[in-house]
Amino acid sequence: MCGIIGYTGEKQAQPILLNGLAKLEYRGYDSCGIAISAENIELYKDAVRVEALRKASPELKGTLGIGHTRWATHGAPSRINAHPHLDCTGNIAVVHNGVISNYQELKSRLVDEGHKFVSETDTEVISHLIEKYYHGDIEEAVESAVADIEGSYALIVLVKDEPGLAVARKDSPLILGLGDRENFVASDVPAILDYTDRVVYLEDGDTGFITGNDVKVKRDGKEVEREEHKVSWSVEEARKAGYEHFLLKEIHEQPKVIRSILGEYTREKELVADTLGVKDTDIESMLIIACGTSHHAALVGKYIIEELLGIPVRAELASEFNYYSHTLAGGVSLAIIQSGETADTLKAMRKLKEAGNRVIAITNVVGSTASRIASHTIYTGAGPEISVAATKTFMAQLMVLYWLGLSYSRLDARRLSGLVKELRQMPGKVQQVLDDEDSIIEQAKYLSGFENVFYIGRGMSYPLALEGALKLKEISYIHAEGYAAGELKHGPFALLGTDTPVIAIVPEDDTYEAMLTSIKEIKARGSPVIALAEEGDETIEELADAVISVPRVDRLFSPIVNIVVLQLLAYYTARERGCSIDFPRNLAKSVTVE
Ligand code: G6P
Repeated sequence: MCGIIGYTGEKQAQPILLNGLAKLEYRGYDSCGIAISAENIELYKDAVRVEALRKASPELKGTLGIGHTRWATHGAPSRINAHPHLDCTGNIAVVHNGVISNYQELKSRLVDEGHKFVSETDTEVISHLIEKYYHGDIEEAVESAVADIEGSYALIVLVKDEPGLAVARKDSPLILGLGDRENFVASDVPAILDYTDRVVYLEDGDTGFITGNDVKVKRDGKEVEREEHKVSWSVEEARKAGYEHFLLKEIHEQPKVIRSILGEYTREKELVADTLGVKDTDIESMLIIACGTSHHAALVGKYIIEELLGIPVRAELASEFNYYSHTLAGGVSLAIIQSGETADTLKAMRKLKEAGNRVIAITNVVGSTASRIASHTIYTGAGPEISVAATKTFMAQLMVLYWLGLSYSRLDARRLSGLVKELRQMPGKVQQVLDDEDSIIEQAKYLSGFENVFYIGRGMSYPLALEGALKLKEISYIHAEGYAAGELKHGPFALLGTDTPVIAIVPEDDTYEAMLTSIKEIKARGSPVIALAEEGDETIEELADAVISVPRVDRLFSPIVNIVVLQLLAYYTARERGCSIDFPRNLAKSVTVE
């Protein structure tokens, strides 16, 4: 969601801000804008894509400026509601990511005091609050303003005649980028990676002031030191590297992601006890919370951990968990959260921590809010995922879950070492799927002509059906539903027919026979069936209308190969329909509001 960037240094700010905004596009947005300080504050914003803003904006000269991509929450996408927002004098400009929950109350108070508002946004109260408190010291004014605010914010404030930018963060990500006679501030690393790989992760409650030569961070009005980190991603990793879309590149990076997680975690078994913070014999149950694709990983994780540890596991949607669960026992919980910033998951994490749980975050973003809340963080290290639809981070999450499951497993040593050995084969198996896309492309062309599709699976393949359907709907805009195969006859059968294809995930595991029965029942209702089946499965060849073969793997690992097929199927279907694959309409990569 909203992305913010600020620049202060010796170069012209406008191209740097626009380039940074383009790099933040992946977060999801509907409008954008920039403000530059020269003699006055010059501003240009609109409800357009960054490229259109770049083409339409006049040349704004100046070496100090801020920029914003907005994902509308308060007020429709429009030029007026786009950031930056000014105060009454036009001398203070603000960009903000987050939600000000007491903005109505603040706005009425400010209106009574004579402030004139022009937008419907919550953010505009901030520029007016700063105007109210600004008497020549911007740091003090921002500190007073944030003391009045309730909610979440990452803020950059530009004030005419001030030599730098004021910043503040609470519950929304904000990093500083350190350069040579120039400094940056942004929501996320990709925005600044073209210029520097030295970053400081601000913490909740931090305020600060940056100029081209100096970076000052404060907590409760007192200066504090914040550690400098070197970003391990390269600029190339955040580029398309010859692929038509980031999504395709990220799907193709999965063998590398698996290899890197295997290298990172499976050798050092003794790490595990530290990770969960308990001895394996002490774990009696587990709760996993997550949203979106990460929730589908949680559901696969439930099967993995229940099978390998023999304990009950609950996998819950964070957005639901936050409103109903009153029976929290102190125990071990996992929070799966690729961005590290999803508001619902963070809220659930805090709730669990307060109830005395040990919360382990599984995230892809170093220094993210999730990693700060968590008792312990496991980084998935998948590298930057730019496309809004999650693919390689999902794979990385699965790998971490397999690793945890196997490390704490109560299986006999022989089966365990067989599984670990087989897990090491997974990069090659996934590569095999990637190298053999033809049948997937053929089926994608076929699917692209339909408006409704069902995905079905049983056991571990049920969450994959959910994830396959989610991928298809979010990037191709085809209505797709994932179902537990056994549930299809309890209602959805009414929708089956020649215009509703069904994708069936049929690994040769315990669910195999029941899946064959489901397929027969579906065929009897006239729906075309495309099956994902293991190589050499002749029974399926006879039953389904089309078969996409996947490499044979141990039944525990079938999600690893099947998910790649489903990702490619969604990708090529969306491509066939000419959709905006990397940045689907209305969606955001990082959902920082409830
Ligand atoms: C957004 C993204 C999804 C992601 C979900 C949860 O909706 O578009 O790709 O699965 O958020 O993200 P998280 O960071 O919590 O894993």
